[in-house]
Amino acid sequence: MTTTAFDPSLLFSVGSFSSSYEFKVRSGVRGRNLSPIKSGGRANKASSLTTTITTTNNSNDDSSESDFGAFGRRGLILTATLPFILRLHSSTNGFEAHAADEFALIREEVRKVVSTERAAGVLRLAFHDAGTFDMEENSGGMNGSIIYELDRFENAGLKKSLKIVEKAKSELDKIKPVSWADMIAVSGAEAVSVCGGPIIPVQLGRMDSMVPDPEGKLPLETLDAPGLKQCFLRKGFCTQELVALSGAHTLGGKGFGSPTVFDNSYYKILLEKPWLSSAGMSSMIGLPSDHALAEDDECLRWITIYANDQKRFFEDFKNAYVKLVNSGARWKSV
Ligand code: HEM
Repeated sequence: MTTTAFDPSLLFSVGSFSSSYEFKVRSGVRGRNLSPIKSGGRANKASSLTTTITTTNNSNDDSSESDFGAFGRRGLILTATLPFILRLHSSTNGFEAHAADEFALIREEVRKVVSTERAAGVLRLAFHDAGTFDMEENSGGMNGSIIYELDRFENAGLKKSLKIVEKAKSELDKIKPVSWADMIAVSGAEAVSVCGGPIIPVQLGRMDSMVPDPEGKLPLETLDAPGLKQCFLRKGFCTQELVALSGAHTLGGKGFGSPTVFDNSYYKILLEKPWLSSAGMSSMIGLPSDHALAEDDECLRWITIYANDQKRFFEDFKNAYVKLVNSGARWKSV
């Protein structure tokens, strides 16, 4: 049997695929029978796609010839697309395979409802659920409590974003209940990737809070740079992470490029400081907190880096987003 190094992160970077598959494994000298193994099948989501894999070093056994024809018995025979191959490797660890299945299923459902036009609101919803985290108090965070907090002034406009996520959630709940926290975390990640941003792996298993989080934890748009840094520090984020996460404002209608394209135009435009211009609508671009970042030397260094290197921005945003949606999360025990 050959063992191939496998990077589990690849599980999350493949495109959407169906959640059910079947394959056959011959487990070396002792394993004479091909035993079908089913993974992740859910009756009403099952795919018609079936893939077959065999790895063997049993030279006395030729029963596979008819199954696999010209490829011979020693080789690895695959009749599958790359995503399936990646998932088969992961099945050496049943839990990982199961989690990947579940993640793929949630992504699939979320993709049906999060269009590029709705993406900005959905990403903001994820920030407003997770962004209540306070490290010192060990309160708030990614726990679905936003469902109790929609009437707060800072959450104005988020009801419709929650409704979008709820649509996907109610479909998934028919198969297997998913927490609000997981749903919102995955939906925010999908909002980014559907608009051309990075593909973000999101771990599953968060539990929902049954009560609202403490108030006054989200940053105000009137904060200056020291205030923003202080606010994010209390959530465990350094200046670089503050600047990377703020790049989310590339989505939406604040004037940082196309409202439905996730790219580094936020930083490019911050460098130009159009709000200082008296010409036309330029002064309307960005929030006071965005302007404040561009006035701070330490933030400006990161703004310049991301303005010149979109790949770096995507990588840093991805990491900071993963940290954000894990903030304060309470996990189901495995
Ligand atoms: C740095 C501190 C932040 C402040 C003060 C802030 C504040 C705001 C405000 C006031 C809006 C405008 C809402 C409206 O149009 O009514 C907004 C929009 C938005 N925020 Fe933030 N935000 C911050 C950080 C973040 C972060 C970290 C994320 C996500 C990772 C985020 C995601 C968004 C998105 C996507 C929008 C556009 C929403 C839309 O157009 O529907 N924000 N933010």
